Amino acid sequence: MKHVSFFALLLLVSVLTLNAQQTVICISTEETDLIFKTAPSGRLYQSYFGKRLMHETDIQSLPYYIARPASDDSVVPRGWEVYPGSGAEDFFEPAFAVRHNDGNLTSILYYRSHQVNEIEPGVVQTVIRLADDSYPLEVTLYYVSFVRENVIKSWTEIRHHEKKPVVLSQYASSMLYFESAAYFLREYSGDWAREAQRSDQELKFGKKIIDTKLGSRAAMHAYPFFQLGLGQEVEEDRGRVLAGTIGWTGNFRFTFEVDNVGNLRVISGINPYASDYELQPAEVFRTPEFIYTLSEEGVGKASRDLHRWAVNHQLKDGKGDRLTLLNNWEATGCDFDEAMLAGLMREAKELGVDMFLLDDGWFGNKYPRVDDHAGLGDWEAMRSKLPNGIPGLIASAKEAGVKFGIWIEPEMVNPGSELFEKHPEWAITLPNRDTYYYRNQLVLDLSNPQVQDHVFGVVDRLLTENPEISYFKWDCNSPITNVYSPYLKEKQNHLYIHHIRGIYNVLQRVESKYPHVAMMMCSGGGARCDYEGLKYYSEFWPSDNTDPVDRLYIQWNFSQFFPIKSMAAHVTSWNPSASIKFRTDVAMMCKFGFDISLKEMTPDE
Ligand code: GLA
Repeated sequence: MKHVSFFALLLLVSVLTLNAQQTVICISTEETDLIFKTAPSGRLYQSYFGKRLMHETDIQSLPYYIARPASDDSVVPRGWEVYPGSGAEDFFEPAFAVRHNDGNLTSILYYRSHQVNEIEPGVVQTVIRLADDSYPLEVTLYYVSFVRENVIKSWTEIRHHEKKPVVLSQYASSMLYFESAAYFLREYSGDWAREAQRSDQELKFGKKIIDTKLGSRAAMHAYPFFQLGLGQEVEEDRGRVLAGTIGWTGNFRFTFEVDNVGNLRVISGINPYASDYELQPAEVFRTPEFIYTLSEEGVGKASRDLHRWAVNHQLKDGKGDRLTLLNNWEATGCDFDEAMLAGLMREAKELGVDMFLLDDGWFGNKYPRVDDHAGLGDWEAMRSKLPNGIPGLIASAKEAGVKFGIWIEPEMVNPGSELFEKHPEWAITLPNRDTYYYRNQLVLDLSNPQVQDHVFGVVDRLLTENPEISYFKWDCNSPITNVYSPYLKEKQNHLYIHHIRGIYNVLQRVESKYPHVAMMMCSGGGARCDYEGLKYYSEFWPSDNTDPVDRLYIQWNFSQFFPIKSMAAHVTSWNPSASIKFRTDVAMMCKFGFDISLKEMTPDE
């Protein structure tokens, strides 16, 4: 019953109108209040973001503006506008920028209405409608508060009714403001085999940006999450901390800007780099979700709240069990045959895991996948290696008494493939320049609906022909290179966004047809690790680096944001000098598996 009374209070507060002009909107969890107020002008400002306020009078007494800078002699005090466009009195980074049909680059949004609904027990959605007073353009802000988990997620929808398309050049998911004596940012950066390495810095006047332009293997160098210490450095169990993450599997951007009076704004969203968006009349542009929690007890509490939230509300099969497994990548690479795999399946049984997972190297006939130079795109079992195809492997798995899972990388193509011979126009590649190959491959153009059908078809065909496949390891080893979509032609500025939307379209189709098939999100190690992807994948692969010493740090850092059941970890021979016990302990901290042959081990081990 607790949530019912909380909700009643919340409704009361949310519709509170303090005087004829002012609207007050409270987005609340059990521990946090985010409070917006309208100004006499009708514009909407962040009035408070912090510990839950206990009394209505506390809320009433908050001003809609925060401070008036000494240098500002205007009559209107500068406030923290919830979704500022460009061209008004705020001279710092906006959330939103648009070019109207008449060339005007300004946009000023006014509060129109809002609604509060409890969409499920303990989950409250607040929808705020803003509109420009001079152009037929609307912005709708969505806030979902997870009351018990102390997590809020927010996103934005933009639409207009001008005659021709408007051009969006900034389109944040969220903007938040802080006033603190000091700000300390903890960010995570890395590369293949050294994912999510953390570093700390103090933020001073000016901007700090964390972003990526990689397109598909998007988080290879910068990770879509951060922690922000307010007033003190980020610590495990004390201090105010904002922990935030964006649910977008493509280019993202976080902007942290400290302004002239020492206030900080945090702007989160898609990276608009090379992505001016031409929005058609009546089309809805929806931004990804920015997910965050404010902790008064350091990052330890923030991570636990995010874990509880993810398991209860976001992660695919959040409450379900996972399949422990034996993978063959470290043990065999692409060099295997049927007999060898059947042997590993028996070892899987002996190890006591649920499943055998066949990795890269099982496909391609005209262009056999003997290494990473050929075959991507041709998802047919290689007859020379596997004369009995996937059905033969499934039969061996059954005989051994384990389930069967398989590796795919369906968004990619090698130029050495039958797919590329047939459909060179499906690859993202420049028509008029030398081609640059990353891992000898190209990215398929998922902005093209035919390519979306093809990628869905890869999964659909495998599962139709082999309904006993229990699991996919879905890899993505290349960033978008040679950035040109033959499909989008003169609309190249839509590629980064439509490509990712195309991937979600495929994942939604897979999810609705095969809701019970588990999938691991992998991207050359851990370059895909976001909460939109994790609606479709029950786990991700944090790193190819399985040296238990390095892995401890990598897993610890990802676990700041993701629950351990969403992170796969395998016992391998990356560091054979580490005891098998230590390697196993580290892998057992996450979703457990092996990628090792029993033949490599001593009887003692
Ligand atoms: C990526 C993955 C590895 C393995 C190889 C196969 O690098 O991260 O785990 O699957 O691809 O090519």
